[in-house]
Amino acid sequence: MSTPHPAPVVLVTGAARRLGREIALTLAAAGWCVAVHYRDSAQDAITTVADCARLTSGAAAFHCDLANEDAVRALLPRVLEQLCRVDALVNSASNFEHDTPATFSFAALEKHLRSNTAAPVLLAQALYQHMQARFPQESDVPAPTTGVVVNLLDQKLWNQNPDFFSYTLSKAALEAANTMLAIALSPRLRVVGVAPGLTLTSYLLDDAKFAALHKMSPLGRSSTAQDVASAVLFALQNQSITGTTLLVDGGQHLMRFARDFSLM
Ligand SMILES: NC(=O)c1ccc[n+]([C@@H]2O[C@H](COP(=O)([O-])OP(=O)(O)OC[C@H]3O[C@@H](n4cnc5c(N)ncnc54)[C@H](OP(=O)(O)O)[C@@H]3O)[C@@H](O)[C@H]2O)c1
Repeated sequence: MSTPHPAPVVLVTGAARRLGREIALTLAAAGWCVAVHYRDSAQDAITTVADCARLTSGAAAFHCDLANEDAVRALLPRVLEQLCRVDALVNSASNFEHDTPATFSFAALEKHLRSNTAAPVLLAQALYQHMQARFPQESDVPAPTTGVVVNLLDQKLWNQNPDFFSYTLSKAALEAANTMLAIALSPRLRVVGVAPGLTLTSYLLDDAKFAALHKMSPLGRSSTAQDVASAVLFALQNQSITGTTLLVDGGQHLMRFARDFSLM
């Protein structure tokens, strides 16, 4: 095995585009070597890697379908093979397909649970095993602890409506896992949730509608991608935070919305 990368290494899932890319760039600017995970967006992943590499000492792209258990189990070992260490994991990739209690199916729930819940938990397990190998005794774990998992959640969990029902169930399960993993994997790992509000638009919203919805919060603005990325960096840096979630949403979780933003 070659020499471990000199900078701490973070694996960011879904980092080719959108929020994951912003998180990758922010962490790279803070000195992290970024393992950029992608599934379909290979070309965007190459661009993100190149942009991260301009900011930090290293970055590399890794393909994986997070719905495939064998592929998920192989992902962290592949990153280790290339970069020889992993210090943190940001679970940002997510499947987001519409259903409601009226259209719910086993298949819809299973699809969301695989990529949005099971894969983040398996990756956290793999990071824990790597930390165990690096620090066999709990007393060996350096203070401050370097191992961190950040799970991207959603303000929707604190302000529920039945749209995107299976997606919401998968994120609710991940939020519960966030607490249990923090208990089970300490002191080798800290586990922190970051829950954005409406941050980036989707194919369901035009720009004018997105801008109007973004203003619907107690603070008059929801989160920007940079707000979310800085919260992730804060979660990686702050050594006292574990088993909790930072809501980064301009207070949207304090308001009641009957529908998902994209369907309002
Ligand atoms: N955007 C928002 O306003 C918002 C609001 C609240 C919460 N969030 C949360 O923040 C995180 C990032 O949001 P986002 O809008 O950037 O997410 P997104 O665009 O919906 O998805 C991010 C990436 O997830 C990857 N992905 C989806 N299914 C996958 C699978 N089976 N295997 C591997 N990769 C898969 C895709 O990568 P490829 O393109 O490479 O296939 C996709 O580009 C998500 O967890 C989301 O729930 C976002």
